Amino acid sequence: MENNKKFYITTPIYYPSANFHIGHCYTTIIADAIARYKRLNGFDTYFLTGSDEHGQKIEKKAEEAGVTPQEYVDKIIEDAKDLWASLGISYDKFIRTTDEDHCEIVQKIFKKLYDNGDIYKGSYKGLYCTPCESFWTETQAVDGLCPDCGRPVHEVEEEAYFFKLSKYQDRLVKHIEEHPEFIQPVSRKNEMINNFIKPGLEDLCVSRTSFNWGIPVTFDDKHVIYVWIDALSNYITALGYLTENDANFNKFWPADLHIVGKEIVRFHTIIWPIMLMALDLPLPKQVFGHGWLVINGGKISKSLGNYKDPREYIKDYGVDAVRYYALREVPFGSDGNFSEELLITRTNADLANVLGNLVNRTIAMNKKYFDNVVVTSDATLPIDEELINVAIGAKAKVEQYMEELKVPEAIDEIFEIFRRANKYIDETTPWILAKEENKDRLKKVIYNLLESIRIGAVLLQPYLPNTAKEIFRQLNTELTSYDSIDEFGALELGKVLNDPEPLFKRIEIEK
Ligand code: MSP
Repeated sequence: MENNKKFYITTPIYYPSANFHIGHCYTTIIADAIARYKRLNGFDTYFLTGSDEHGQKIEKKAEEAGVTPQEYVDKIIEDAKDLWASLGISYDKFIRTTDEDHCEIVQKIFKKLYDNGDIYKGSYKGLYCTPCESFWTETQAVDGLCPDCGRPVHEVEEEAYFFKLSKYQDRLVKHIEEHPEFIQPVSRKNEMINNFIKPGLEDLCVSRTSFNWGIPVTFDDKHVIYVWIDALSNYITALGYLTENDANFNKFWPADLHIVGKEIVRFHTIIWPIMLMALDLPLPKQVFGHGWLVINGGKISKSLGNYKDPREYIKDYGVDAVRYYALREVPFGSDGNFSEELLITRTNADLANVLGNLVNRTIAMNKKYFDNVVVTSDATLPIDEELINVAIGAKAKVEQYMEELKVPEAIDEIFEIFRRANKYIDETTPWILAKEENKDRLKKVIYNLLESIRIGAVLLQPYLPNTAKEIFRQLNTELTSYDSIDEFGALELGKVLNDPEPLFKRIEIEK
């Protein structure tokens, strides 16, 4: 039987930048955790990320560096892939907008829109922000500055092709209103409708003649296609849309979730759905606009002196500590502060103290009392029920939170098992049971702890994959599937555990 549980998730495709920072990692880590969660939950999942490599900005940077644009982007993308590997990003495809097949499909898309009359030729006069690749109207660019980045916009006039956004305005508003889940969180939906759509959509300039680094319009090759048309198309070109090789497109489109930063929600909820309507394709089910990671309330950048290569944090604190911070610290959808002190505090408090101590103490006790062998008994007490209920009940709660993309809450629910298990150790005092030679009760207590840890580790896999793997190694178990935690007591008896090893080292803050 065909598996009808499918899930298609995307990140934005990144501008090749030599300075990928922790904020870029934030988007990607969250998308990765959601993708891994869906896979664990039995969804046939496709997770797409990639790079957005065309445009005037890249052309200029390559020129400054004395290399061709292609050489310039190739080098950066190699480095970006290394960064994603170091964060354990489990993408199914990394698309580059310089990929030959992507370029060909974008040309076909442009031609199709032109043939259908949704793209027409005209002349463009207006304001343009080169760093953001964005056009602005006089009213939007207050004092001649780009409303997104605050840098000066400049006037341009050239022959250009236009895309009839205005024609689709009413259909778009209707779609947004009839599908409240389409733009999330709700605050972003209101912002789009009130600030951008309701004031009236103007037709969009979708070609440029003032530079070359872009995909040429096939029927008028002094024009290159506007980068956002090129970039947004990646979500369907990656799946083989308009090619013979379109099995993935047929299977995975429409996307279930586009995760994007708040400043690019408008491209994804205005231009993109209108492109899809004009192509007669279904719209993505949801665009989620998350907030930014900021440092001391401001942007992260080299020029502000607060930039650090994310691999430095990974080297110092471990990849799962970095993932944990990104996933746990910031309510998904809001802005959140990033600081190394907070990263250390979180790592020490939650990972080293709560989780690390629990696993270490439990496996060490099992070694001391039972020679590392998994044993149990019938000596239950009512107090066991509380722990068992928390462990068994976590799955449904995590599922509910993940449905709503409340990632920090989902993780906290898993940590509730670990906190409860630590409390259970204090309540049952295994060392006293050992002293009293109450072996039966001791067996039961340690078994309950080991099984609770296993259940927590199964649920933890999407968020902290390395830690979960290490816990399974120490538990010497292959029971890692989502189904294996429906009942309490699956951990096999008679297995010999590996010796305890600390999962996380406490990090000392230099005074
Ligand atoms: N190339 C476009 C996206 C095209 S998608 C069809 C782009 N690229 S980007 O590299 O500038 O940004 C990629 C993503 O990183 C965006 O979602 C952006 O919001 C996110 N972030 C960049 N800085 C960020 C923070 N400081 N914090 C969180 N996310 C941030 O936009």
